[in-house]
Amino acid sequence: MSLVDDYRARTPRSRSLFERATASLPGGSTRTTVYSAPYPPYAASGSGLVVTDVDGNTYRDFLGNYTSLILGHAHPAVVAAVEAQVRRGSAFAAPTETEVELAEELRRRVPSIEHLRFTSSGTEATMFAIRAARAFTGRPLIAKFDHSYHGTHDLVMAGTPGVPDAISGLIVELPWGDPAGIEAALRGRASELAAIILEPVQGAGGVRAPEPGFLEFLRALADRLGALLIFDEIISFRIAPGGAQEVFGVRPDLTTLGKIIAGGYPLAAFGGRADVMAIFDARQDGAVSHGGTFNGNPVGAAAGLATLRELDAGAYRRLDALGARLAQRLASRITADGVTARVAQVGSLFQVFRGEAGAAFAVGAGQPSELYLRLLLDGFLIAPRGMGAIPTVATDQDVDDLADAIGRALVAIEKVPVEAA
Ligand SMILES: Cc1ncc(COP(=O)(O)O)c(C=O)c1O
Repeated sequence: MSLVDDYRARTPRSRSLFERATASLPGGSTRTTVYSAPYPPYAASGSGLVVTDVDGNTYRDFLGNYTSLILGHAHPAVVAAVEAQVRRGSAFAAPTETEVELAEELRRRVPSIEHLRFTSSGTEATMFAIRAARAFTGRPLIAKFDHSYHGTHDLVMAGTPGVPDAISGLIVELPWGDPAGIEAALRGRASELAAIILEPVQGAGGVRAPEPGFLEFLRALADRLGALLIFDEIISFRIAPGGAQEVFGVRPDLTTLGKIIAGGYPLAAFGGRADVMAIFDARQDGAVSHGGTFNGNPVGAAAGLATLRELDAGAYRRLDALGARLAQRLASRITADGVTARVAQVGSLFQVFRGEAGAAFAVGAGQPSELYLRLLLDGFLIAPRGMGAIPTVATDQDVDDLADAIGRALVAIEKVPVEAA
């Protein structure tokens, strides 16, 4: 039986839900990153490390809703906090104490964040951090990096269908890790530059840590050009209590946060220097407007607080150890099996690459991600492109099992090419 046939045989209810979904949702999907050919398993429930699909198959989840569920699914402390908040009401046209508490906790962890504001998604967080930089500097141009991901608003999606060409003139792409290339890309445009935005550890771009000195170079460059430095820590915040800026010791002007700060609920944040964030201060004339029906939503804030309270220094040490264990075991297997693959790991984040050039696994239209499909059949969930994140609920044995499953999949992929769906 072929791989895809095997998957179809085990997931008839997911298949019929997907077929039903195509009548309502284009391509049967409402989120680009959770579609993978021939169709994704439909989730029924999640508890701890394990997700159960509508056909009763179970998967050890090493994606955690794209790195956001750092405590795993339905953690009792998070469920209790959410239940308590929902009973008191789910949203108000009024601020709550919970949002103040979460703001205080984030400031405590991230000293560069003097003032912050909440949004509903990471996309809005990067959009407003960019707006803050432009309003504060009075300049239009933004620089971002190749292989970066900052969400889905127009500026960071420039050059893709539906975004007017004119937007491309407002953003310049810089080569990651290449100071000379960066200087060249910005030559003649320095006086227009409002901000450089980057993920201090690239997430979607392949779990890429900065070379020593690279973040320091960018800090000095932004200062020299009179531009702001924005760290998008929506993924990298999970590597330490104060995020990548704590680990690498570089202080940005603004930071964006999301995913784990809301413990699995839709809430994100942007913040930083008080003089920059003051442009949102509604007590003054001409403040920049920042509406949002769900900004600072108390359910997300309660879940975030409960999550962060579980994440003490010991939790990060353990996550680091699990990440290193996975990378070491997988690297030894790759060498022993003689497959052309590579693993990148920073803290609890990992990415498996294939081939000599270290490419991410393809997620082309209509073509299954071989790694993803093989791992599903082996009872593991990671991103179709080969990225994943280890939650606190994983054991050493879970991580060893994942390394072995990825190793088996890599061997099979090199020997048995998958057929089209
Ligand atoms: C670094 C980074 N920035 C921004 C975003 C966008 O966040 P959201 O999906 O909540 O809009 C993501 C999402 O994956 C991200 O990884």
